[in-house]
Amino acid sequence: MSRDPGRILIFDTTLRDGEQSPGASLNLEEKLAIAQQLARLGVDIIEAGFPFASPGDFKAVNKIANVVGGENGPIICGLARASKNDIKACFEAVSPAPKKRIHTFIATSDIHLKHKLRKSRKDVLSIVPDMVTYAKSFVEDVEFSCEDASRSEPEFLYEVIKLAISAGATTINIPDTVGFSTPSEFGSLINDINKNVPNIDEAVISVHGHNDLGLAVANFLEAVKNGARQLECTINGIGERAGNASLEELVMALHVRKSLFNTYFKRDPESPTPLTAVRTKEITKTSRLVSNLTGMNVQPNKAIVGANAFAHESGIHQDGVLKNRLTYEIIDAKTVGLNDNKISLGKLSGRSAVRARLEEMGYDLSREDLNDAFARFKDLADRKREITDRDLEAIVSEQVQLPESKFQLIHVQVSCGSSSKPTATVTLLDTDTNNEKTAVAIGTGPVDAVCEALNVLAKVPNELIEFSVKSVTEGIDALGEVTIRIRNNNKIYSGHSADTDVVVAAANAFVNALNRLVFSEKKNSIHPQFDNLDNTEKKVFLNSKK
Ligand code: KIV
Ligand code: ZN
Repeated sequence: MSRDPGRILIFDTTLRDGEQSPGASLNLEEKLAIAQQLARLGVDIIEAGFPFASPGDFKAVNKIANVVGGENGPIICGLARASKNDIKACFEAVSPAPKKRIHTFIATSDIHLKHKLRKSRKDVLSIVPDMVTYAKSFVEDVEFSCEDASRSEPEFLYEVIKLAISAGATTINIPDTVGFSTPSEFGSLINDINKNVPNIDEAVISVHGHNDLGLAVANFLEAVKNGARQLECTINGIGERAGNASLEELVMALHVRKSLFNTYFKRDPESPTPLTAVRTKEITKTSRLVSNLTGMNVQPNKAIVGANAFAHESGIHQDGVLKNRLTYEIIDAKTVGLNDNKISLGKLSGRSAVRARLEEMGYDLSREDLNDAFARFKDLADRKREITDRDLEAIVSEQVQLPESKFQLIHVQVSCGSSSKPTATVTLLDTDTNNEKTAVAIGTGPVDAVCEALNVLAKVPNELIEFSVKSVTEGIDALGEVTIRIRNNNKIYSGHSADTDVVVAAANAFVNALNRLVFSEKKNSIHPQFDNLDNTEKKVFLNSKK
């Protein structure tokens, strides 16, 4: 049987696999804010990114390793393909963290070997021990993944795993890369690995899975029953295609059904010891932060974090819940931090009250950021009577989007109504040239007019593909949160903003999306799974010649 840490280790890959979802790309400040929140949430390992992808990705992983990785904090991990350049860059990026991990991988299925890597099984059998040994020369904690493990020939998979462990891998990750497996198959795969890999007791078995058939969480729970002890997951289940296994669903399944799972950990079924180290009360806040910063809205009926997850619409259910919560509720909303929306502050609250509340909520802002947050708070308090924790969250998450901005919205005004053509006047500052320009445009509605005017000024080709508004809290003076997604060259970029005036929020969200687009054009990242290893060696060579 594989190494057993006695509980489940939560490996969060929101900042790596999650960020690979179309339109979810994050800037350094945003990644740092999410990493800090993941540490508060209590995840065991943060996969902070793929350092070799670009200088920007390297910097973000390095910053997280510096700021978030601590003796008592999470392990900071970086992803590296099975190549020396990737592994070296990964080590350099994670090196400031006291607890660091290199996660290296190569595909093991014939379909990937033939069509993606153009390598033979024999090649893989020689690359794996070489690269794991190389990673081990930098760090003690090495994770090795067999990409597309669930579609790999089992005997070959066992051989690869055995070699990786002999070379020093301490975690073996089994990905269901294309979300093809079913729960009983995935459970059997983990069981078979435990039975057929002779040195498996020297490593922790981890699982990683995508949600193409909506089975990722169910697959993981079967894997746990068969000895998997690390779960790789993302907040809100974001990730490539249909996403990754969702952290909040896994953690809450293990929390609510603890007595069922306890027996697989050689515990008494009624043992109260948690199965994960996650602070469940931080779940809702983490979900909102990730949704706001990635621009990926959470579907209302999503388990645990969807807007309707704890809403009781029908009269029969409400009656039952009022009589006894247990009739229709298996989770108290407070367990995931949902009902903690305190009305904390108002127009007369001072700077220190705002700072104190933000600190209580877990935000440790620098002096400069606090000044900005306070200015935004004052502006909002002039328009809204009571400022809740949700409003403060919206203010803080808005702020971290700003650092890499070419464009800044200076002014927006619209005129519209039943008998006039919606017209917008917009002033935009180009921070590269320090040039302020104004344009007027007509649209099918006020938001369309604003976007038209911004396009005239920014001159960045794009197509608007999504516009959504939702209110942060109840009440007529609530903040409206706008998410905008735009497309350029088949890539998606999102922007998010909140304001009591939804047209102003839409203008800011559009400007945020344009800023991401412009910034990402400069970034030119490599995709860890789609870019062939051989091409990368060429790329490094070309870069070094420049
Ligand atoms: O889905 C996958 O196989 C991955 C690996 C890189 C672990 O993301
Ligand atoms: Zn993946």
